[in-house]
Amino acid sequence: MSSEFTILVIHGPNLNFLGTREPEIYGKNTLDDINSLIEKKAQELSLSIRIFQSNSEGSIIDIIQQNCDVSGIIINPGAYTHTSIAIRDAIASTGLPAVEVHLSNIHAREEFRRNSFIAPVCVGQISGFGVHSYMLALEAIKSNILAQIDIRR
Ligand code: DQA
Repeated sequence: MSSEFTILVIHGPNLNFLGTREPEIYGKNTLDDINSLIEKKAQELSLSIRIFQSNSEGSIIDIIQQNCDVSGIIINPGAYTHTSIAIRDAIASTGLPAVEVHLSNIHAREEFRRNSFIAPVCVGQISGFGVHSYMLALEAIKSNILAQIDIRR
């Protein structure tokens, strides 16, 4: 089946260390494991995907600006969630639907993790379901894109 929609998936800082990084919080899957699961799920949903990981704020903004031709964005901004107005502005400037993803439940952790600068420019936030958060995000972005098309008809 051909993929009508392409989704940009961005993993932010320190997510390249998944597997060994605080496994009691983030699980034992490596980023490669997670990306394989994302690719499988995307195929099931007939979505094309472009996946990137970066530890740097500027590079994440470049990735967003260079991939504006996609239909939607899934982003786990890592710690930039709680600090980056620049990534928020980059997402907003695309006008694309975006879903914010977290492996851990950021609302059940330290107080500083509860605030997201990114969530207000996203259609929603999925937090706390481990690797399954990404699977839910793929379903959510697809249904949001389809709903927007329906509204425009
Ligand atoms: C995270 C949560 C953030 O607070 C943290 O800085 C991360 C990972 C998550 O996926 O649970 O790097 O985004």
